[in-house]
Amino acid sequence: MSKSLTRDILSGMFIVSTKDSACIVDTVLQVSSSSEPLISVSVNKNNYTNSMLKKNTKYGINILSKNVKGEVIKTFGFNSSRDIDKFENFDYIDEDGIKILKDTIGYMMLEKVQVIDAETHDIFIGKLIKEERFNDEEPLLYQDYQQHKDEYLKFKTSDGKTAWVCTVCGYIYYGDTLPEDFVCPKCGVGASAFEKK
Ligand SMILES: Cc1cc2nc3c(=O)[nH]c(=O)nc-3n(C[C@H](O)[C@H](O)[C@H](O)COP(=O)(O)O)c2cc1C
Repeated sequence: MSKSLTRDILSGMFIVSTKDSACIVDTVLQVSSSSEPLISVSVNKNNYTNSMLKKNTKYGINILSKNVKGEVIKTFGFNSSRDIDKFENFDYIDEDGIKILKDTIGYMMLEKVQVIDAETHDIFIGKLIKEERFNDEEPLLYQDYQQHKDEYLKFKTSDGKTAWVCTVCGYIYYGDTLPEDFVCPKCGVGASAFEKK
């Protein structure tokens, strides 16, 4: 059978951030247009972010660019905020306790106005109350991510270099080989503390 037409619904890639959680989503839509448009996001009921969205009123949505590091997708899309602090190894800004990732195109702050039950997910609808653009990079489409998933998740750069991850602080060095005398610029450990990804 041919692939489902749902695969042809184009969508972007985002991080939804609440007070104590954040996760990758590909289900953000603008659903009304005015000076304060409504934006919807669909979040799985099993995700910690779902329960935090239910508890809190304000939340942020970051827009990911084509230059997003695989490390971001791995951390925010394949781990739960129940278990780790996803922002530990990334630069972020704090907006009333909501952590916003800096290495993105920008972010929107929303104020929840409605929650709609949608079987496996809940659809959270929020009013856009603030936005800030960090750069003009091209947004990442979910379909691009699917197509280049191996490259993103293997931590490789577009020119094929391997990533070496510091097991102490998470710093990543990109290069085919890690110099023997390399010292982590973030936490100061030597090359033996790095793992090839
Ligand atoms: C490419 C990609 C797209 C995703 N899209 C969604 C989505 O639209 N909605 C959702 O609830 N989870 C989505 N996820 C899964 C969550 O990001 C993932 O379950 C995360 O670990 C939940 O973290 P949390 O428990 O901290 O909320 C996506 C993951 C990836 C890798």
